[in-house]
Amino acid sequence: MSNYHIKNLEEYYQVYRKSVRFPEVFWEEIAEEHFQWYKRWDKVLEWDFTKPEVKWFQGAKLNITENCLDRHLRIRGDKTAILFEPNNPDEPSQHITYKQLHARVNKMANVLKSEGIQKGDRVCIYLPMIPELAFAILACARIGAIHSVVFAGFSSTALATRINDCDCKLVITSDGSYRGSKTIDLKGIVDEALEKCPNVSSVLVVNRIDSKIEMKEGRDKWLQPLLDEAFDECTPEVMDAEDPLFILYTSGSTGKPKGMVHTTAGYMVYTAYTFKNIFQYREQDIYWCTADIGWITGHSYIVYGPLANGATSVMFEGVPSYPDFGRFWEIVDKHKVTQFYTAPTAIRALAKEGVEHIEKFDLSSLKVLGTVGEPINEEAWHWYDDNIGKKKSPIVDTWWQTETGGVMISPIPFATPTKPTYATLPFPGIQPALMDENGSEIHGNQVDGRLCIKFPWPSMARTIWGNHERYRDTYFSAFQNKYFTGDGALRDEVGYYRITGRVDDVIIVSGHNLGTAPIEDAINEHPAVAESAIVGYPHDIKGNALYGYVTLKETGEYRNQDNLRKEINQLITEMIGPIAKLDKIQFTAGLPKTRSGKIMRRILRKIASGETTNLGDTSTLLNPEVVQEIMDNVLK
Ligand code: WT7
Repeated sequence: MSNYHIKNLEEYYQVYRKSVRFPEVFWEEIAEEHFQWYKRWDKVLEWDFTKPEVKWFQGAKLNITENCLDRHLRIRGDKTAILFEPNNPDEPSQHITYKQLHARVNKMANVLKSEGIQKGDRVCIYLPMIPELAFAILACARIGAIHSVVFAGFSSTALATRINDCDCKLVITSDGSYRGSKTIDLKGIVDEALEKCPNVSSVLVVNRIDSKIEMKEGRDKWLQPLLDEAFDECTPEVMDAEDPLFILYTSGSTGKPKGMVHTTAGYMVYTAYTFKNIFQYREQDIYWCTADIGWITGHSYIVYGPLANGATSVMFEGVPSYPDFGRFWEIVDKHKVTQFYTAPTAIRALAKEGVEHIEKFDLSSLKVLGTVGEPINEEAWHWYDDNIGKKKSPIVDTWWQTETGGVMISPIPFATPTKPTYATLPFPGIQPALMDENGSEIHGNQVDGRLCIKFPWPSMARTIWGNHERYRDTYFSAFQNKYFTGDGALRDEVGYYRITGRVDDVIIVSGHNLGTAPIEDAINEHPAVAESAIVGYPHDIKGNALYGYVTLKETGEYRNQDNLRKEINQLITEMIGPIAKLDKIQFTAGLPKTRSGKIMRRILRKIASGETTNLGDTSTLLNPEVVQEIMDNVLK
């Protein structure tokens, strides 16, 4: 992709105006100029938010891996595509060139085919951050199989739910994974999950940690020997623009995760175009996003967006604290990283460790810094700007979601003046709206409301796997003819947006999106528990921490309360994963409820945050007396 960088604010406004006035012309030009198509589209856009139905580039034929791999071979075949940095700093980095990546993806695609995987089949990928994860994703896309990557920190129960929801036939995993000084038995987790997944007929296993694992006869196979035998050319499947590319699960307000479905052409066009502009990517750059590929950030901005641009994308297996808190900066220095993209929670954790970990390294290669996942607080923003960017690298605070596929609101470096805690301006093609509680749009500046998007963009999720009605109810029913994000936002005097946080039952902990419902479901599994309610409260590093209010079936002392707390967290770890463990658990006699029986989380949230006055109107409660009891026993 050649010259389509936005270079200054004036140009941004020009491009933006065009994208709103003539969206179809705008996206068509980008699609035409920068990608390879087997067949051109018949129609750029068709949409109806009431159904909802959105189709981009209808009738076009393509394969995204052709755009991410094949077309680079001639001009940059020997350029590094994936720069793998292992968990252990003593293990050598791997520079995987476009040629090598192409060959490995093709081999893996052929292995999948020989396992009987065909276009449209779902494949579950449960792998750590090792190159095979990227190969597996692209191999699926090569043959038109729909990948469903499950973050390797999820428990066996969570994995099983996701495998069954979209009926995966095959699972790709590894014997285990390295995480700092620990190893994790991934294959054991898969074995446990598969006891509940009757339709999985094969498991391909990457050898990462050389551990002795059990291989189930007829089901499990080591991947390497199959790859060794496989042919390194695999003709890409011809895909329709709107064929599903992948499913990625996100939490919602009911216990069941939502399998967001992303389709091929629009996703490709949008992630590639945003990548190039938001990181001001140039051919010689070394780009590093620290996210895990198990999340949308990794899908769009480690794999697809960078590779569609022929970029070098760093893939890091480890954690920021191993072997010490200098690891990120050591890697930036070692590979001369030019763009660095991470989450506020990581920034806060590193800021706490002091600058001596930074001073040892040369960070002068950095040009652009990114942040994503939750609102960044002012202190963390300045720490990042001062200590990592040395006030020379613009910070792109990128707001988006699993559902949006790509970045929606963000500064464009060197064009948009940044402002701490503000994601600033909508990306070209994105039309935000702030809504009031009565469903009317709030116009003008210096206002706040619920953040909606009122026009389709190419990479929006098209449905929830197997449940279109839930898709409509969740995103298109709160406000007529608009996509509702679930976030609140304010718009300042110049039109910059600041995301203020979730206005629904999703809590973001260390950048992970957690629904309260699945956690409450897990707690309620405990035989002693009658009812529970989870809220978030501010936490220095995690952004939010989880506070649980739990009522027990028998009143009075129930055995040892600390043991009960441990058991509850153990259940959560088993059902969801350690990321959803509660920081505080308070046992209460009751939960404040409205007369219709709804738990008043608003009050519980305030109490957990340490507020003792201003609880709002409690007189309409069914049981106002429990509020005092809860306040008297609040955990500090
Ligand atoms: C939610 C989506 C998309 C990448 C990772 C998260 C919050 C995300 C920002 C930001 C303030 C942000 C929102 C959003 N969020 N980026 N820059 N500023 N909040 O994806 O897990 O689908 O979560 O993350 O609340 O709705 P996700």
